Order: sequence, then structure tokens, then C-alpha cells
Amino acid sequence: MASPSGHRRAATVRLPQAAALLLALMLSCCCCRGGARSASSSSAAASSSPKVPAVIVFGDSTVDTGNNNGIGTILKSDFAPYGRDMAGGPKPTGRFCNGRLPPDFISEALGLPPLVPAYLDPAYGIQDFAQGVCFASAGTGLDNKTAGVLSVIPLWKEVEYFKEYQRRLRRYAGRARAKRIVSDALYVVSIGTNDFLENYFLFVTGRFAEFTVEEFEDFLVAQAEWFLAEIHRLGARRITFAGLSPIGCLPLERTLNTLRGGCIEEYNQVARDYNEKLLAMLSRLMASHPGLKVAYINVYQNMFDLITNPSTLGLENVEEGCCATGKVEMSYLCNDKSPMTCEDAGKYFFWDSFHPTEKVNKFFAKKTLDLCYEQLL
Ligand SMILES: *[C@@H]1O[C@H](CO)[C@@H](O)[C@H](O)[C@H]1NC(C)=O
Repeated sequence: MASPSGHRRAATVRLPQAAALLLALMLSCCCCRGGARSASSSSAAASSSPKVPAVIVFGDSTVDTGNNNGIGTILKSDFAPYGRDMAGGPKPTGRFCNGRLPPDFISEALGLPPLVPAYLDPAYGIQDFAQGVCFASAGTGLDNKTAGVLSVIPLWKEVEYFKEYQRRLRRYAGRARAKRIVSDALYVVSIGTNDFLENYFLFVTGRFAEFTVEEFEDFLVAQAEWFLAEIHRLGARRITFAGLSPIGCLPLERTLNTLRGGCIEEYNQVARDYNEKLLAMLSRLMASHPGLKVAYINVYQNMFDLITNPSTLGLENVEEGCCATGKVEMSYLCNDKSPMTCEDAGKYFFWDSFHPTEKVNKFFAKKTLDLCYEQLL
């Protein structure tokens, strides 16, 4: 285990590169605004009997289906080539992917609509949200300060939207049915990566000076505990909660690691430590909250297995994103001006320098569903 001061030294070397990347991302926002906007009305063919009444989503870009489209942030993906492999033709929706995200696949597999609508998308209304709704916001984190870095929706605000949603649901469906939807829904939560990669290790919020990395892990786990207890108090009972992936193996982090090459092992170690603390907290929480079930999604293992055995899913590249050079681009830097974007995203683990392809999202969804049937449904 590296000491906190070890982290500090090692990370300082990367600071100029990291800051340059953030700056590039910020500058690039002015020139290429206004991608195609999703105006899909949900033509949800109501399947005979869905396994749950609704899928309700909280978290960051790994599960954000378009909430950032309408807010004042530079972290967006509602333009080509995002969404280029959507069924029915290219359609950028604000999903950080060439296609769909895990919650979409989970919803479809449970007999609900194939897309979980973003709560802030004006194309959808409460009649759609009654079957599934997403409060997630790309770039957010467990720490309030993470959301501040790129001006996105903080987690406490996602919870406020959830409360507002419940008021609307009661008016729409009546008190009893609204209550049943909320208590029987499957909740999908994925958050935490940005707290380290966009906040702590980038030195942009002061957390780095305030906490050792171990203390910061504890702080984040306490935030996760607050969040879970709060949505349980508001009626949630069946929740999947994703652990951290090997965050040092994301293409952007590999790029920042040019001096040493490969994954940033020090970041992966932090992810493993955090996951262990998260798991312990989840057992404690379930013991003290009868009726609450939280399934821990071992994203670390799932991703690591694929990276070490890419051929099981027909992948040929697990180190770079498909979009542009695949080394640094996401959001506005991943746009359709790049001649280098790959032809077949199905051969890639990553779509952009931070986010998995649709194929990998589908694989993650399958893993999550298996666990849901074992532990929650
Ligand atoms: C995060 O911000 C909200 C809203 O201002 C506040 O209620 C909450 O206490 C904050 N959480 C922490 C840990 O500071």
C-alpha cells in the first residue's frame, strides 16, 4: 500500500496533463454546440406482465440517459457520433455510449420499455416515468463537490427530484398505486468513479488536501450510506449498487500514465479498497434496515475478466476508446469531425476514453440481472 504522501508525489507528476485535459474539454465546449436532440416518445408496447412495475435509476454517466442535455454543463453527449448504433438508426440521446446503457437493457429484460427516460427530458411525462425514470447525471459523484467540478446534478438533488417524482406519481396514479410502484420498483445505482478521477486525483476541489485517500474512501462510503438510507426511507426496497471498476484502466487514465504505461495500479488499489468498505457498509445497512435489500454489483471483477479475456465477448481492443484517437476524447472532444473513429464498436471495450460500448453495457446488464434474480426479485 502506498502511503498518502506516496499518492501525492506520484499524482503530482500527472497534474499538468490532467489539468490540460480538463481545460481542453472546457474550451472545446464553445464551438460545437447543438447536436441532434432526442425527441423520442416512448412507444412502450406494454408487455404482458413486467417483473417489476418500474426501473428507477440514480448515479453518473454510466447510467445517465440524458439528464445533462438540458443543464448548463459542458459534459454532454447529445451529438454524433454518440448514439450512432441505436436500434432504428443513429440517435444521440445524451447517453455516453454508441448505443444503450445497462438500465435500458435491464428495463427491457424485465418486460418494461427498452429505454429508461431521463427525468429532465421534456419529451417524456409522468405516464412514461411511471414505468421507469432516470435521475442520473454524468459527471456527478457521492461527494457534493464532485458535481461542482463540471456543474452537474449533485446526488442530493437527484434525491430531491425523486421526491418530486413521487408527488407527481401520486397525482397521476393515486396514492396506493404510486406507493406500490415506488416500493416494488428495481433501483439501479452507479456512482463513485468521478469522486476519484474528476475530483480527488485532479486536485480541483481541495479534497486532496483535506483527506488522505483512505479517509476520502470512508467519506464516500458514508455518503453512499446516507443516500441508500434516504431512498429506503422514501420507499425503495430493492436496489442494485455498483462498486468501482478498475478505474486505473480507463483509456484516459492509461493515457495519463504515459510515463509508466498500462493501467494506473495505484488507482485500481484504491478502487479495491473502496469496494471492500462499501461491501461492509451494505451488510451493516441491511442488518439495521429490515426489508431493504441491496445487491452489490462487482463491476471490478466483471470488467477485469473482460479485459483479461476479451475474446469471450469478441473484443479486440480493451485499451482505447472507439471514438477519435480513443486516448483522451469524451463529451465534445468525441465528435463526428474525427476521421479516426473506429468502424466497428463491437470490437471495443470502450466507446470513448471513459465509457464502455453498448456491447459491454449489455454484458454488464446481464450480470446485474443474474444477481437481481438471485437476491432481489
Ligand atoms: C451536500 O449538500 C446538501 C445541500 O446543500 C446538504 O444538505 C448536505 O448536507 C451536503 N452533504 C455534505 C456531506 O456536506
